[in-house]
Amino acid sequence: MTSPTIESILQENRLFPPPAEFSEQAQLKSLEEYQALYERAKANPEAFWAELAEQELHWFQPWEQILDWQPPHARWFVNGKINISYNCLDRHLTTWRRNKAALIWEGEPGDSRTLTYAQLHREVCQFANVLKGLGIKKGDIVGIYMPMIPEAAIAMLACARIGAPHTVVFGGFSAEALRDRLNDGKAKLVITADGGWRKDAIVPLKEQVDRALNNNSAPSVENVLVVQRTKQNISMQPGRDHWWHDLQQGVSANCPAEPLDSEDMLFILYTSGSTGKPKGVVHTTGGYNLYTHVTTKWIFDLRDTDVYWCTADVGWITGHSYIVYGPLSNGATTLMYEGAPRSSNPGCFWDVIEKYGVTIFYTAPTAIRAFIKMGEHLPNARDLSSLRLLGTVGEPINPEAWIWYHRIIGKERCPIVDTWWQTETGGIMITPIPGAIATKPGSATRPFPGILADVVDLNGNPVPASEGGYLVVRHPWPSMMRTVYGDDDRFRRTYWEHIAPVDGQYLYFAGDGARCDADGYFWVMGRVDDVISVAGHRLGTMEIESALVSHPAVAEAAVVGKPDEVKGEEVVAFVILEDAYLPNEDLDKALKKHVVAEIGALARPGQIRFTDALPKTRSGKIMRRLLRSLAAGEEISGDTSTLEDRSVLDKLREGA
Ligand code: WT7
Repeated sequence: MTSPTIESILQENRLFPPPAEFSEQAQLKSLEEYQALYERAKANPEAFWAELAEQELHWFQPWEQILDWQPPHARWFVNGKINISYNCLDRHLTTWRRNKAALIWEGEPGDSRTLTYAQLHREVCQFANVLKGLGIKKGDIVGIYMPMIPEAAIAMLACARIGAPHTVVFGGFSAEALRDRLNDGKAKLVITADGGWRKDAIVPLKEQVDRALNNNSAPSVENVLVVQRTKQNISMQPGRDHWWHDLQQGVSANCPAEPLDSEDMLFILYTSGSTGKPKGVVHTTGGYNLYTHVTTKWIFDLRDTDVYWCTADVGWITGHSYIVYGPLSNGATTLMYEGAPRSSNPGCFWDVIEKYGVTIFYTAPTAIRAFIKMGEHLPNARDLSSLRLLGTVGEPINPEAWIWYHRIIGKERCPIVDTWWQTETGGIMITPIPGAIATKPGSATRPFPGILADVVDLNGNPVPASEGGYLVVRHPWPSMMRTVYGDDDRFRRTYWEHIAPVDGQYLYFAGDGARCDADGYFWVMGRVDDVISVAGHRLGTMEIESALVSHPAVAEAAVVGKPDEVKGEEVVAFVILEDAYLPNEDLDKALKKHVVAEIGALARPGQIRFTDALPKTRSGKIMRRLLRSLAAGEEISGDTSTLEDRSVLDKLREGA
């Protein structure tokens, strides 16, 4: 099995209509209903969103203007006052949902915990008071570097409650990566845990925080709050480090949600791009609350009886929007799982579904491909009959994996929503509406109502049906990123200038290539920039190159993705050594370790290829296209006339 190729996708013509039993009971029941909504939203997006904002959310004060669009800057629900923590918690307390499970947590090894809406509200209020006690005020940025435990969600909601933007850093990132992110946002506080469980081992999170902060290398950080999770010995620096449970002792659980401006910053989340350091993607409050709320409701077809499980980590946008904010805003039961499939328990995901009667399951294609390898006897040995809807996100899903998911997990009964979106978009943009839109394996199908997506050429002109082009969005939407934190210029350059504005209309450029077929279905082909995706983790090739070059032995490096059966892509690094060094196995290991220390295990090169030259154009630009072919073991095809020194290719081939 491989990632989808253009050929395989163009041949894909199977159509899976929504099952009648599903549609009958769904929030949106038919194609006609979807189409009517879509057309209404298209005709007047602002009216469409305003109506939903009024219906679906609580506002402390109504907005004065729906949208203020000064391209490329949008402000939604101008001067409206809102609090997403209020919408996720308080408003459910006056309904029967007060004692409904808000968060079901399945931890390792064998721990579990369920928090009702009333309990979660209490914890969030108390912790918000702890934050205030440490001097955290509206506008102060708080770093969160945590395992998948309820305290991660509690911390996020507590920050949101008092208007302190959070910046969650995935627990798999290294101390270096954490330090860069804390410094970029000038975080005042870091919330972490002594450790986290990862595949039967402990990830020493607090130790990484110590490393990130040592020698005053992140000077803005005044305090560190530590959840006791794994209970191994850690060092606590007096005055700076505090145990969560100590500070929470006796603290009041009365903390009214702060009425925030709709455009107050809710969070920063870092993501990789083609150039430079990761970008701090900025999301604000009102529009993000609305968009994640409505998309969760319609795409996952939420009902009050659902047990909804998204397997992402809260360190990624999927965890923000579809574990925490979207489901809780809807009053749903959201499940959070600390574990991961591993050799000691390869069927653990299916155990969780059986144990809690999960009805909606949202995961990534790379996980599905790993499940296929582990064998269908694992899911077949569990009762998965509670499932009614499946989802995927993160990369294109190859039709073979889609069909396996449909047959083995969904028993040919559950619709699959293949959801295309990005950290930058805040919420799902292109997706089936499960009761309304027939699916085609490998296609994310159609845009969500209110999203005007298109496939265009570099001049912004739509390309004919089924021809490749760039995926763009034409009209601002409520949860769009507002800027790159501290670098608005980069925001303009990256997303708004690749494709020239057409008749003064700005197009948001997603960085993906796509086709739109004759039925209006979108087929996302993958990144067109130097971003690769390893097990659904987005990595900039340049970041990994910078990490390699920061090692004393490396003179120059070029990184490309190589197709991988399970992970989608694997990192392959071509490395030129400094004169004093010779290629050998120790150095190979040392360089891999160095990348892990600089970025995190997710960026570890699968292969390092030592070379004494790289294929470059006469102007000195590395020809990655050629390196990609070499890494994949393919014949070099296409134009090589701009190559400066043709013998380089032969040498590289011999070297393999
Ligand atoms: C990139 C965004 C959005 C949450 C997870 C990743 C790729 C995402 C799909 C999909 C094809 C997809 C795109 C996109 N992508 N979902 N359903 N089909 N490609 O968020 O790290 O911001 O990455 O993931 O290339 O640009 P992210």
